[in-house]
Amino acid sequence: MKHLISINDIDKKFISKIFKRSSEIKNARLKSNQFFSEKLKGKLLITHFFEPSTRTRLSFESAMIYLGGNVIGSENAGEFSSFKKGENLSDNFRVISGYCDIVVGRFKNEGEAYIAAENSLVPVINGGDGKGEHPTQALLDMFTIMEKFPNLNNLTITFIGDNARSRTVHSLAKLIKQFPYVKLIRFINPYGQCLDFVNELKNIDTPNTPDVEIKYDINKEYIADSDVIYITRNQNERGHYIQNYMVFTNDMANMMPEHGIIMHPLPRNSELPLDVDKNPRAYYFEQAQNGLFVRMAILEELLNPCLSD
Ligand code: NCD
Repeated sequence: MKHLISINDIDKKFISKIFKRSSEIKNARLKSNQFFSEKLKGKLLITHFFEPSTRTRLSFESAMIYLGGNVIGSENAGEFSSFKKGENLSDNFRVISGYCDIVVGRFKNEGEAYIAAENSLVPVINGGDGKGEHPTQALLDMFTIMEKFPNLNNLTITFIGDNARSRTVHSLAKLIKQFPYVKLIRFINPYGQCLDFVNELKNIDTPNTPDVEIKYDINKEYIADSDVIYITRNQNERGHYIQNYMVFTNDMANMMPEHGIIMHPLPRNSELPLDVDKNPRAYYFEQAQNGLFVRMAILEELLNPCLSD
């Protein structure tokens, strides 16, 4: 049984299958809007979320329904499941996994997705675990980057924001590190955060992997040479509030190369002002919509791998 808990769980073959299928699904949608299928007819998804979500939960639920399957779940499992009565996560997942074919879970703490998977009778997809990982977001992010830059040739990708506590950054950086043609992954770290995961990335010594660097301020030069800028919000629900959090203004956006793209996993706060939306480099809504296609491909692959061959 295949779970999807971390980027470490997937290989190149899985990634290229998912991306190929995601494009087919997206093209079908763009052509006719009639992309409903019955590929997962009779299958049931449970979404079990212990943290708020808009995109992850609703795109997974729509994905399952567009594939002919069914969905039940809890958008606030901490309050509305027996967790509230003191049930532990292991029992919780052992039981709900007996009622369905696949579970997408979102967890408050890093590592809890592993506990869920270990106790589950069916595949578990990690829809975000604390400040740990968010592998399906990384897949849709990478799919979005490759739509715009199919060869990834010589690309510089800069992460600006709460890099230490953003699970989307952790998963995406790990994923990008597997793509040899990317030139550089850069983290802007003006808050003096401890970026352990970056050291782990630096220690991967497979030949031809992208270089990794940390810089301490948002210098014009780092914006001007970035093909992709990936912004994240202040994750203040995970501990302290970062004062003077940076704002990526439209003037900064205009310093990027014309072909550059601005990404953000959303939701955004003040770090990405609304007037950036009109900038031709703004790409975050396309990114969010790709979540539907990529998650359809992921559900097909985990529930019925032969279908997508
Ligand atoms: C992200 C998350 O939950 O980690 N949201 C998402 O899934 N698109 C980003 C965030 O909450 O900042």
